[in-house]
Amino acid sequence: MTRLFLPLLRCLHEPVYARRLAVLSDLIVRELKPSDRVLDVGCGAGRLAQALLQHPGRPASLTVHGVETRPRPDCAVPVTTYDGGSLPFEARAFDVVIIADVLHHAADPKRLLEECCRVSRRLVLVKDHKAEGCLARWRLRLLDWAANAPYDVPCIYRYATLEQWRAMFAALPASVRSELASMRLYPAGWNWFFGRRLQYFAVLEVC
Ligand SMILES: C[S@@+](CC[C@H](N)C(=O)[O-])C[C@H]1O[C@@H](n2cnc3c(N)ncnc32)[C@H](O)[C@@H]1O
Repeated sequence: MTRLFLPLLRCLHEPVYARRLAVLSDLIVRELKPSDRVLDVGCGAGRLAQALLQHPGRPASLTVHGVETRPRPDCAVPVTTYDGGSLPFEARAFDVVIIADVLHHAADPKRLLEECCRVSRRLVLVKDHKAEGCLARWRLRLLDWAANAPYDVPCIYRYATLEQWRAMFAALPASVRSELASMRLYPAGWNWFFGRRLQYFAVLEVC
């Protein structure tokens, strides 16, 4: 049953994920500068990094490196493995750090955000979920499960509200430059149930 069901779920997830990559890479590319060194924390298969490197609006000489607790053999960019504690890089080793849909998987999201700020010289770009709206936590649980089960990524089903995100950011050596509290991240019909206020994007400027 699982052997048939998970590949089917993966096929259904693919067009949704492709649209998410297009929307996110559009948002991220406009924050990047020529010769930026970017770190993608929790890069998964490296597809977001790859979308940035292939984006028509990318700046010249962009490099993207991944870091992962569960590196995938088919990762599209160079990836460093670590244990989920301290990021294995010097302070300010990268210009920009991206952390996309990773914090809600992390045992200690505050510590991970601090680590992102430590290794970034300029920006930390956060994409995550936001528990807001009717049955938000149940809709997020369903989305999280459907998006991660086919890839064997464990979920802890814990989601922050807008106030909780802002409180987490206020404790960082960074300021919020901009945020999107609602996003049309998925193909048309999907946004109604899984997009909009369940999705969150913030640009943090490191002090
Ligand atoms: C939903 S996937 C997102 C993958 C990718 N960032 C993207 O946007 O397509 C979450 C990823 O975060 C990774 N992850 C979970 N906890 C982590 C941690 N503490 N540090 C780094 N990566 C982590 C998982 O292994 C998984 O690959």
